[in-house]
Amino acid sequence: MKYINILVQNEAKIATITINRPNKLNALNRDTIQELHNAFRELDEDKNIKAIIITGSGEKAFVAGADIAEFSNFSEKEGGELAKEGQERLFDFVENLATPVIAAVNGFALGGGLELAMACHFRIASDNAKMGLPEVSLGVIPGYGGTQRLPQLIGKGRANEMIMSARMIDAQKALAYGLVNEVVAQQELLPLCKKMASSISNNSSVAISYAIKAVNAGFSSSVDGYVEEIKAFGACFGTKDFKEGTTAFLEKRKANFE
Ligand code: COA
Repeated sequence: MKYINILVQNEAKIATITINRPNKLNALNRDTIQELHNAFRELDEDKNIKAIIITGSGEKAFVAGADIAEFSNFSEKEGGELAKEGQERLFDFVENLATPVIAAVNGFALGGGLELAMACHFRIASDNAKMGLPEVSLGVIPGYGGTQRLPQLIGKGRANEMIMSARMIDAQKALAYGLVNEVVAQQELLPLCKKMASSISNNSSVAISYAIKAVNAGFSSSVDGYVEEIKAFGACFGTKDFKEGTTAFLEKRKANFE
């Protein structure tokens, strides 16, 4: 598929999506959100792709937020629709994707940019990265899941401070908060994410997709995480990967998953 606002590269079993609007610091407009949805859906359906990395183009920004120019004249109704559509099309979609998604945060991750990074399964940052939810400085609140995922990741008090102050934190603070898992120099960011993705890709992708489902269930009000875990655990026993993984262990060889 042809994209205008993003680049998609596949290398071995790993796909890298680069949001490519560097002149606008990769701000997320409607078209970019739709393209990201399409790319994630396609890559998730491609059984050769075992992990996805998402990053921003240029050295300055991952994503500097939702495109402020696009929504500045919106009505209440349009504002609500923007948040609902965005959450469904991109943020919840990524969080619930069966394929693991790593955010390579290579600079500013603000507003919708931090919300996108938080919807990914985990985050690695470069040492120049700056993260924040500055929405209240614009007279609005985070609308792409930020009020929910930030407290989940760093706790309510820290999240409230970040949301209320609208201030950015640097990569080291994000690491101390547990918002990102590692901080590396910018030139090491993609190599490290690819190494991590490659190590993930050697494991059972079916088991990983069940694990994603069970972990997410723990944060859902409509399903019980423990019940979901039992269901997913049981379902693993019916998969070829389970046969291969356990047989390989008993035969003292490396598992060769499909
Ligand atoms: N939406 C739309 N355009 C954006 C944007 C956003 N969220 N963030 C940056 N841009 C655009 C700027 O308007 C500018 O475009 P222009 O050159 O056509 O005027 C370009 O990207 C470069 O940004 P600029 O502000 O000149 O860079 P800077 O280095 O001076 O500042 C930031 C960087 C990130 C501090 C600043 O761009 C910023 O505060 N952005 C908005 C962050 C925000 O509030 N996000 C939440 C949105 S809900």
